[in-house]
Amino acid sequence: MSSNPTAAADDVNPLADPEDRPAPPAVFVIFGASGDLTSRKLMPAIERLAVRRLLPPGFAVVGVARTEMTDDDFRERMRELVEKGGGGGPEARHVWDSFVGAFRYVAGDYDDAATFDRLKEVLDELDRERGTAENRLFYLATPPSTFPTVINGLKDRGLSRSSSENAFSRIVIEKPYGHDLQSALELDRVVHEAFDENQVYRIDHYLGKETVQNVLALRFANATYEPIWNRRYVDHIQVTVAESLGVEHRGSFYEQAGALRDIVQNHVMQVLAMTLMEPPVTFDADGIRDEKVKALKAVEILDAEKVKTQVVRAQYTRGWVGGEEVAGYRDEEGVDPHSTTETYVAMKLKVDNWRWAGVPVYVRTGKRLPKRVTEVALQFHKVPHLPFHLKQVEDLEADSLVLRIQPDEGISFRFGAKIPGQAFRIRSVSMDFFYGAAFLEETPDAYERLLLDALSGDATLFIRSDEVQRAWRIVDPLLQAWENDDVPVAKYEAGTWGPREADELLEADGRRWRRP
Ligand code: NDP
Ligand code: BG6
Repeated sequence: MSSNPTAAADDVNPLADPEDRPAPPAVFVIFGASGDLTSRKLMPAIERLAVRRLLPPGFAVVGVARTEMTDDDFRERMRELVEKGGGGGPEARHVWDSFVGAFRYVAGDYDDAATFDRLKEVLDELDRERGTAENRLFYLATPPSTFPTVINGLKDRGLSRSSSENAFSRIVIEKPYGHDLQSALELDRVVHEAFDENQVYRIDHYLGKETVQNVLALRFANATYEPIWNRRYVDHIQVTVAESLGVEHRGSFYEQAGALRDIVQNHVMQVLAMTLMEPPVTFDADGIRDEKVKALKAVEILDAEKVKTQVVRAQYTRGWVGGEEVAGYRDEEGVDPHSTTETYVAMKLKVDNWRWAGVPVYVRTGKRLPKRVTEVALQFHKVPHLPFHLKQVEDLEADSLVLRIQPDEGISFRFGAKIPGQAFRIRSVSMDFFYGAAFLEETPDAYERLLLDALSGDATLFIRSDEVQRAWRIVDPLLQAWENDDVPVAKYEAGTWGPREADELLEADGRRWRRP
């Protein structure tokens, strides 16, 4: 998380943090400019960065997609969606107006060489007219099937290489990065024929979340936690990524992905790596990513037998969520009525290293669970001896430390305390830290943070090639077993915490899932 050495601190804008540094001059090229991700995430992030004065005058945006639009149509469309998304206010409008003039649009198919010829012309014009200094950040907000075509198009036009030592050419690649290990390796081959690894920014928006980054702050900025962050004190770890939403309008996409590819291979593995990793020597891209890879390498690769006993896959059926009756997965639009795609996964993993030997990690994720919550919980060992009478211990659990990633971002420590009164009785209580209450600073959206990092050349919160490969190695055996139909698809009613089989997974070890 190095700062950008090319820019000075902004002491004028009240919204800017004194530590914030504006991006260098550049063109942000969005492949997929007419799509959902651009509307919902990328453009609002760009608007926020502009309003916070974190984009320099020499900044431009070029959209590329098939939909026919003029530059003005594109500007108008982007303005409308930013306003619809709650952007705006007189100051924001003023900033936007001065900035949207540098938006350009190239209509064309990625299969057509003329699209890239036109793109190159536009980039050269912007360098001359807007002072974008031949710096380019390409963003692949397109279906993954088009990634190789776009990358080859950029390579063939010489756009994947920087034009001089002082200029940069970088590429941000959206998830999913491949659909299994083999396809990820194949995509890496295509990427590396065009770009060097240090030009590649594989995005996982979970790494842009403040609370995911706070796992590092909690662990490595405090003397208290690291000494107990190991097998001697921790009994087991639970990682939960629960969503109350279903598959929304993305049924056909989800049919190909499922919870394992959509959430476990990327978001869960990243959060897990940050929880398990050793302290990095340096707080920079390679320092942190080296340790994350080492942690993922220690995660056991399950064989076919263990997939049967340590993994549960399931699908939601009709039920009630948030007071509303919702359809079962097989009745969702775009979903095969006989689909076996999982909307829920629970698994038990072993971590084969010195720190975590014998500490199971239980992971679960699912759609249509009772609420949206992402958390990491470290459950500590019980005390070796309780010097109290049984009657004195009223509802005492082992201590736990819960990192709440979303919502109600914060940290909660649960421990035993004396119940006030003449008698000596003990009960578990919580000590809670809430981000929102402790800090007045505004929390940037994950995409805002990650776009600024990519523009500034900081790859710390992006995923390196070996990390993606390792994460696929962990999930590949599950995909294979499921393809062979070795593991049945369990069912859970929408609005419940998952199938009975997931509870049994922990009960077999004498443990149970937390109720977040
Ligand atoms: P959409 O289907 O909404 O948009 C796809 C975009 O790609 C459109 O602008 C489309 O242009 C363009 N496109 C597709 N094929 C071509 C082609 N052959 N030539 C030119 N343009 C083409 O997808 P999303 O925005 O939902 O997703 C984009 C990427 O982001 C995917 O990789 C997805 O996995 C990833 N992602 C999306 C998330 C989301 O919430 N949407 C979340 C996380 C990741 P046109 O319509 O004009 O033809
Ligand atoms: C995306 C998945 O990567 O993450 C979606 O494709 C999921 O299916 C989303 O809903 C969850 O992100 P967040 O930030 O809402 O937890």
